Amino acid sequence: MRDRRTSRRAPSSDLSPVVVDAAIPPTASVFVDGDVSVRNDLAARWLAEALRDVLSRQDTAVLALVGGSSVGGVHEALAAADLDWDRVLVTVGDERAVPADSPDRNWRVVERLVTPLVEAGRLPTDNLVGLPDLPDDATPADVEAAVQEVADRIDHLDVVLLGMGDDGHVASLFPHHPGLSATGRFTVVTDSPKPPPLRMSATVAMIAGASAIALVGAGDAKADAVATVQVEGPLADVPGRIIHLAPRSILVTDRPPTPEHD
Ligand code: 6PG
Repeated sequence: MRDRRTSRRAPSSDLSPVVVDAAIPPTASVFVDGDVSVRNDLAARWLAEALRDVLSRQDTAVLALVGGSSVGGVHEALAAADLDWDRVLVTVGDERAVPADSPDRNWRVVERLVTPLVEAGRLPTDNLVGLPDLPDDATPADVEAAVQEVADRIDHLDVVLLGMGDDGHVASLFPHHPGLSATGRFTVVTDSPKPPPLRMSATVAMIAGASAIALVGAGDAKADAVATVQVEGPLADVPGRIIHLAPRSILVTDRPPTPEHD
């Protein structure tokens, strides 16, 4: 049996701290199209290119994915990408503390990418690094232990796809929430404003340390948050601004910002 893949980078890969109250200048590319299938295809092509770029430099690439309604179509489009999936580890940017077979797991959305690839024999199941199973009544200590199992295999993220809430949250990093200041690679969130309250999330430093981040967000309810991401300001106000901290990033949305956000 071959060695289990891990995501180890050079030992010097400690995460850089991020000051969440400092203003971040917007640097991400922005792609605007009113058609969701055009947006999903574009985001998938961008992510595939980012993964290829990482794989040209490293043995493996770590792809981190989240839940929610905005990212599933991108996952499906990405499954068609011509990539060396055998060298890609797929993990969670955040996960809800519910049993592994719950319909509420973010992993259900991740499966829209990984299931067809596994079934086609292109992605080994050993490359899937989701949050281990949890009991129905999981405690923060249970989640902590499960998170440690993820952290044992994943010491950095290379490529990240995020959705964003109407309040500007990404993964389980919420505006002006103590979780924004968590140190280390992953954190346990016990009072998430979005249900369920108990979750795990990659930290700000972990996500910001990725070499490429794509953020997808569209629709009337998200219009303000999406526009505000494109204006200089602190991550604490709008965690979606985290995309500007990565060397390569893209915001994929359905409308240009309105003049009031200029
Ligand atoms: C979750 C997510 C969360 C999600 C956003 C956007 O646990 O739901 O990981 O960060 O991506 O809330 O969700 P929608 O796309 O459904 O608006």
